[in-house]
Amino acid sequence: MNSKELLKKEIDESKQGEILNIPVAKKSTKKIYIESYGCQMNFSDSEIVASILKKEGFSTTQNIIAADIVFVNTCSIREKAELTVRKRLEFYNSIKRDKNPKMLVGVLGCMAERLKEKFLEEEKLVDIVVGPDAYRDLPNLIREVKDGKKAINVILSLEETYADVTPVRIGGNGVTAFVSITRGCDNMCSFCVVPFTRGRERSRDPDSILKECTDLFNDGYREVTLLGQNVDSYLWYGGGAKKNFKNASKENQLNCTKFANLLDIIAKANPLLRIRFSTSNPQDMSIDVIETMAKYNNICNYIHLPVQSGSTRILKLMKRGYNRDQYIALIDNIKQRIPDCAISMDIITGFCSETEAEHAETLSLMDYVKYDYGYMFKYSERPNTPAARIEDDIPEEIKQRRLSEIIDKQQKHSLLHMKEKIGKTYEVLIEGVSKKSNMHLYGRTTYNSTVIFERGDYHLGEYVMVKIEKCTSATLIGKVI
Ligand code: SAH
Ligand code: F3S
Repeated sequence: MNSKELLKKEIDESKQGEILNIPVAKKSTKKIYIESYGCQMNFSDSEIVASILKKEGFSTTQNIIAADIVFVNTCSIREKAELTVRKRLEFYNSIKRDKNPKMLVGVLGCMAERLKEKFLEEEKLVDIVVGPDAYRDLPNLIREVKDGKKAINVILSLEETYADVTPVRIGGNGVTAFVSITRGCDNMCSFCVVPFTRGRERSRDPDSILKECTDLFNDGYREVTLLGQNVDSYLWYGGGAKKNFKNASKENQLNCTKFANLLDIIAKANPLLRIRFSTSNPQDMSIDVIETMAKYNNICNYIHLPVQSGSTRILKLMKRGYNRDQYIALIDNIKQRIPDCAISMDIITGFCSETEAEHAETLSLMDYVKYDYGYMFKYSERPNTPAARIEDDIPEEIKQRRLSEIIDKQQKHSLLHMKEKIGKTYEVLIEGVSKKSNMHLYGRTTYNSTVIFERGDYHLGEYVMVKIEKCTSATLIGKVI
C-alpha cells in the first residue's frame, strides 16, 4: 500500500471515531492525533486533553502518518467497545511499523483505567496509559517516555473536575457544545464498569460552569449539553466528592447548589442559549428539576431517562434504585408538568436470569411510555462488576431475539412520534449543512428531533420556525415559514 492509499484507508477507518484538530500553534513542532470512542463525556474529555497539550505547544493533525503521538480515548462499557479499540491499536501498529516508526501511542480513558499496567503488558505497542482523572499529568508523562520507557498514571481523584481548563472546541459546529458538570458515579449499578473506571462522583463549581456557558454564548454558541454520568445528583457544597457532603460545614450544606438550582442559574443568565442535559438516572430525578424545565423556554423539552428493564426483579438485580411502578410514576409526573416532553431510554436486554415474562414486561413498559428514541443493548458482562458474580446465562441467540423485538417496537414508536409532527410548526436551531445535500440545512427542535429544510439565506446558530411536511423514522423534513 502506498502512502496515499494508506492515508485514505486511515481516514476511512477513523470515521468510526472522532478526530480533533487544533489550529496549529505558531511555535509548535510536535503533532498529536486524537481519536475518541464511547460516551459524550469522552468526546468532551478529549477537548480537555487537547487544551492541556496545546499549552505545551502541541498541535493536532488529522494525518496519522505525520503524528508524533497518537492518543485513543477509550470506552469499556461493553466488550464490543473494547474490541473496537484493540482493532484500532492493530492499525496504529501497522502505521508505526511501515510509515512512522517514531510515533508514540497513548491510551486514555476507561480502558486505560480498567486495565492499568496490564495494558502495557498486553499491548507492547502502547507507550502511555492515562486514566480519566490524570490528564493534567500528560505533559510530564510525555516527557517521561524516552528511550523505550513507558509512562502510566491511573490515579483516580475525589476532586478533579478540570473546572479551570477551557476545552478546545474543535471539530464542532460552533453552535452546540458539551459542558461537563460532574465526573464519576457513585451509583454502582451492578452491570456497569463506570464507577470503577471514572471513580467517585464529584461536582464542578457552578460559577465555572456558568462562566463556560456564558463564554460559549458570547462566542456564538446557542446550545449546551450539560454532561455527567448522573446529572440529577449534581451537588456543589464547596468542593470535593459527594460522599464527603456530610462532613461539610452546616453553612455549606445549607447553601449547597443542586441540579435544579444549577439549571435555573444557567437558564436565567442566557435566555437564548438552549440547555440540554445527559444522563438522568430515574432514581435521582427530582420534581424540582421537572418544574425548572417547565419554567424555562430555553431548557429543552427532552429527557434521556434510561430504564434498563421493565421488570422490578431485574431492576433489583441491576441495583437500580427504582422499581417499575416508581419509574412509571416519574414518567407520569413528567407528562403532567410538561405534556409534550420527549423521552428517550437505554435498555439492556438479556441480563442475567431474565425470563421471557420479564422481557415481556420491558415490552409492555415501552408500550406505556412510547419513547421518542431509544438506545438498546445486549447485556455484556464486564469483569469485576457486581453482576460478574452472577451467571451470564441468557444464550446469545435469545439475547439477540429479545433485542430485535425491542428495537422493532422502538422503531414503531419513533415513527409514530415523527408522524404526529407532520403539519405542525416548530422552532429549530440551525446546526449545519445537510450531509446529503448542500442545498439543505439541518437543526433540531426542543424535542431533539432532527429537521431538514431548504438552505435559503439562513445561517448556523439562527433560530427558525419550520413547518413539517414529511418524515422518515429518524428525520423531519419541512419548510421555513
Ligand atoms: N449514566 C451513564 C450511563 C453510562 S452507560 C451515561 O451518562 O450515559 C450507557 C448505557 O450503556 C447504560 O444506560 C446501559 O444501558 C448501557 N450499559 C452499561 N453497562 C452495560 C453492560 N455491561 N452491558 C450492556 N449495556 C450496558
Ligand atoms: Fe453506570 Fe449506573 Fe452510574 S449505569 S454510570 S453505575 S448510574
